[in-house]
Amino acid sequence: MGKYDFITQALDGLKEQGLYNIIRSIDSAVGPWTVVDGKRVLNMCSNNYLGFANEERLKGAALKAVEEFGVGPAAVRSIAGTMCLHRELESRLAAFKGTEDAVSFQSGFCANLAAIPAVAGKQSTIFTDELNHASIIDGCRLTKAQRVIFPHRDVEALSSALEEHRDVPVKLIITDGVFSMDGDLAPLPGIVDAAEAHGALVLVDDAHGEGVMGSHGRGIVDHFGLHGRVDMEVGTLSKAFGVVGGYVAGKREIVEYLRQQGRPFLFSSATSPADVAACIAAVDILEKSDDVVRKLWDNARYFKAELAGLGFDTGVSESPITPVMLGDAKVAWDFSKRLFNADVFAQAIAYPTVPKGKARIRVMMSAGHSREDLDFALEVFAEVGRALGVI
Ligand SMILES: Cc1ncc(COP(=O)(O)O)c(C=O)c1O
Repeated sequence: MGKYDFITQALDGLKEQGLYNIIRSIDSAVGPWTVVDGKRVLNMCSNNYLGFANEERLKGAALKAVEEFGVGPAAVRSIAGTMCLHRELESRLAAFKGTEDAVSFQSGFCANLAAIPAVAGKQSTIFTDELNHASIIDGCRLTKAQRVIFPHRDVEALSSALEEHRDVPVKLIITDGVFSMDGDLAPLPGIVDAAEAHGALVLVDDAHGEGVMGSHGRGIVDHFGLHGRVDMEVGTLSKAFGVVGGYVAGKREIVEYLRQQGRPFLFSSATSPADVAACIAAVDILEKSDDVVRKLWDNARYFKAELAGLGFDTGVSESPITPVMLGDAKVAWDFSKRLFNADVFAQAIAYPTVPKGKARIRVMMSAGHSREDLDFALEVFAEVGRALGVI
């Protein structure tokens, strides 16, 4: 018995079940057309909603920041000082989102790992949607709080659970705003009403809502007109913003508390000056104009309607996330390979990212796609769908 046998057996098991994740190499900047494994393909699966990952103004701001501030923050912010750039990004994000304050983290994942354990201690109960993102699940695992997992988008079940735990001093409700695999929306108005009725805090993960939902892409809280009624909005800067990083925007005292108690803030260095400056440039663009957000939605509406017209099942999405439901993981991987052979890059998503039997191709729309790009993709999807008997 070798000491790594349990690992190699697990890897073999993944391969046998068709669950081994083949990670392709990106050999160019990410755009509507991207070089993947040495081949130029139409990119239909990155989270580059607004095309900002290779946007000239963001790149210019990043280059300027490197000249002025260098390449790294050189320390944990609470130990050796925080760069003024990070502070500027935080106040710009708070103004953009319409919140009292914001604090930035290394990623959206880290933002959840910071916020959830800081707020939910031993005497707390967390109420979490069963389809919440892995970073929320892990954030909950890092607490000693009691956990109630409520059925997906079920406000009635949530209200009953809140009633059952009415004597718990700190109650924290957590939900994705836009669910990342299905693209459906949290019933946020009902959740907020239930929270207010029971004195609970609300944290919404807006990773797939910002830059996408609401006026100028201000996010899910803006979309539902709930400003001031959601305690924490967790965001990522790696999707619509096109860069990397995360943040929590919300009430002043909570944000201040996260600067004191959020462990990824206290024990890990911040994002680089180039990242931060590029994010500030993204906020500048979105504040001035909503052109890219409109283009994203035009593309999403067109592509979804055409796919449905071809006979594909595109699930329950209410956002530009467009799942093409296939069921079996092996069919999904085969579908994805055939797409790639025909110059379309759209990855299969299978268990454990989605439940077993719910494998799919997850198409991610971008404002960068032209109508010709979308028509080309539709042609290829139709060919592959027919070849595999899916449509
Ligand atoms: C809902 C949700 N939250 C958080 C994250 C993590 O964001 P980041 O990539 O910035 O760590 C993701 C990324 O996939 C996500 O989909």
